[in-house]
Amino acid sequence: MKSRELDFRGIGAALKEHLCLKKQSHLLAKGDSLEVIKKIPDNSISLILTDPPYHATKKKNIYGDTLFAKDKEYLDWMAEYAKEWRRILKPNGSLFCYCDSSMSARLEVLFSEEFNILSHVVWTKPNAPGFDGWKGKMKKENLRQWYGHSERIIFAEPAIEGNLHRSPFGQYLREMRKKSGLSGHQLTELTGAYGKVNHGGAVSNWEAGRNTPSREQYDKICSAIIGTGKVDSMLPYEDVIRPFIMDGSKEFTDVWNFESVRPYKGKHPAEKPIDMLKHAIEATSYADDIVLDCFGGSGSTAVAAHALNRKSITIEIEPEWVESIVTRLCALDSAEGTVSSEDSLETIELKQEALF
Ligand SMILES: C[S@@+](CC[C@H](N)C(=O)[O-])C[C@H]1O[C@@H](n2cnc3c(N)ncnc32)[C@H](O)[C@@H]1O
Repeated sequence: MKSRELDFRGIGAALKEHLCLKKQSHLLAKGDSLEVIKKIPDNSISLILTDPPYHATKKKNIYGDTLFAKDKEYLDWMAEYAKEWRRILKPNGSLFCYCDSSMSARLEVLFSEEFNILSHVVWTKPNAPGFDGWKGKMKKENLRQWYGHSERIIFAEPAIEGNLHRSPFGQYLREMRKKSGLSGHQLTELTGAYGKVNHGGAVSNWEAGRNTPSREQYDKICSAIIGTGKVDSMLPYEDVIRPFIMDGSKEFTDVWNFESVRPYKGKHPAEKPIDMLKHAIEATSYADDIVLDCFGGSGSTAVAAHALNRKSITIEIEPEWVESIVTRLCALDSAEGTVSSEDSLETIELKQEALF
C-alpha cells in the first residue's frame, strides 16, 4: 500500500545516521534501540514484535540481561519503551513483547498504562529429549518451585487515553457517525447489521470495541456515512481495523507449541523459531505492513516478515549480531534474486560506512 511505502521512506530518512542496511523492504539500525526509536515518526509502525533481554534469566551472553541490579530498574527501562511503542504504533497496530514468566505480571501492569492487554500467550517448548535445555538433566528433588518451561508473550493494542477498554476503531467510528448525523440505529438499518439480541446491533458493539466489522461490513458503513453528504471520505480498512486474521486451521489459542531452534554454529542464544514469528505476524498484520523489532538478535523477525511480504525494521546493539543480520538479510534477497543494482550498491555503501 502506498501509505506504508511513504511511512517506510520517512522512517528510513529519520534513522539515516543509524542504518547499516537499507533495502527495499528492510532497514537495519545499529545502536541502543531506546535512543533509535525516539527518532521514528508517530503512528508509523503497524506491528512491534520484539524480544528484549529477559533480565530474569541472567544470561551473560545476551547484552542487557545482567544490566539491571534491581527489577525496578528493568521495569523503568521497559516503561520507557512502552511509551515510545505507544507513540510510534498506528492506532490499529499491535504489540508482542516476549518476557520471562517471573516478570510477565509486572510487565503487563506496566504496559496497561499505554495498551489494552489482549492475550498473555504461553509459549511451551515441546522439544525432543536432548534438546530441552535443563529440563531433562536437572535434579527434580532439588526444585523449590515448578520448573519454568515456558516463555510468555504479551499481546496488546494501543489504548485510548482515559478509556483503556475502548478500541481506537470504536472511537473513530463513533466520531465519523456523529459527524454524519446518523444515529446508531440508523447506521444499523443502513448497513443491515442487526444484532441477534439488541436492535442497536453490531454498530454499538463496534463502537464499544467489543468486536470489529468485516471488510464487507466496513464498505457498507463507509457508503452509509459518506452517503449523508456530511463526510467526504473514510479511511481505508487497513488503516482503521486492527488485523486479527485467524481460522480453525491455525493455532488460535493462547498456548503456543513451537519447538525451540536447535543448536547450530553461530546460533543466537535467544533465537526464536521462524514458524512462531510467522504465526504472530500473519495473524496480526496486513501484507506490506511495517514490522519493528527493537532487539534484533539473529534477525529472525525480519526473516519471518520477509517471508510474508511485510516490511521490517530491525535494531540491534551488538556489532557481532548486526553483522550476522546483514549477512542473513542479504542472503535472503540474493537467494530470491531480488537485489536491484541500486539496492545492492546502497547496501554495500552503508555497510562500509557504518557497520564495522
Ligand atoms: C533476547 S535477544 C533477541 C533474540 C531474537 N528474538 C532472535 O530471535 O534472535 C535480545 C537482543 O537484544 C539486543 N539488545 C539488548 N539491549 C539492546 C538495546 N538497548 N538496543 C538494541 N538491542 C539490544 C541483544 O544484543 C540481543 O541480541
